[in-house]
Amino acid sequence: MKTYIVGNWKLNFTVGESSIYLHKLLKKVPIIRDVEVVVAPTALALQPLSLQIDRHKMKLAAQNAFYRDYGAFTGEISFEQLRGLVDYCIIGHSERRHILGEDDKMIQKKVAAAIRNKITPILCIGETESERSFGETADVIRDQLIGGLTDVSEEDLGKVIIAYEPVWAISSTKASKPATPDEIAEVVKLIRETLKETYGAKVAEETPVLFGGSVNPSNAGAYLTVPGVNGLLVGGASLILGEFTDIIDIAKRVKS
Ligand code: 13P
Repeated sequence: MKTYIVGNWKLNFTVGESSIYLHKLLKKVPIIRDVEVVVAPTALALQPLSLQIDRHKMKLAAQNAFYRDYGAFTGEISFEQLRGLVDYCIIGHSERRHILGEDDKMIQKKVAAAIRNKITPILCIGETESERSFGETADVIRDQLIGGLTDVSEEDLGKVIIAYEPVWAISSTKASKPATPDEIAEVVKLIRETLKETYGAKVAEETPVLFGGSVNPSNAGAYLTVPGVNGLLVGGASLILGEFTDIIDIAKRVKS
């Protein structure tokens, strides 16, 4: 299986800054077989960056999209409109769940819309600090996973990537604290067990599961060697050229 290194730029970089950053990134990153590098810029930059990017080296992701293809939905962007511009879309990021009020039902519709439009969904799931402290982690993970994948067939699950991002480990979360490899391993195991119950062992094994939360060059190696982890979803460090390219390098080394 490929290793995925996904940079989520969140609400950072203007269109011009995004283009300059991508230009530098393309210069530094070689074509790496088995490591899929993906960047998720602001939606405004997707069109120009789709013309600029070298798809042999890296791919584009949207950070979000709406579940209906067209219609009276002021301010939204549809997966249909993103078709051809991006290969991936982040769906259900905790910032969208907790700041923008997205629930599993909406997220499930977005996952289906992405698949319908041939865009690979990167479905984010993860518990908050208080959910973890109340011992609810397993329930939250199962609910978000099953909730997000309702109506996804066994065949279509092959087109889905799961990202485990504990909210308490995200660098911008108040009092955030990096997850330990053991904490990650436990939840990733649960994710695969849950997938196995619904879709069978083969699909569960073949679904890429990424980890995200305060990933940087000093922990990327350890996180990438956690059993069952197939890549990283990187926030803050993906905005710093040297750190992001170091993480890509580490992925390449771990892979070989
Ligand atoms: P940080 O890497 O800044 O913790 O962000 C993680 C994240 O939310 C990526 O989607």
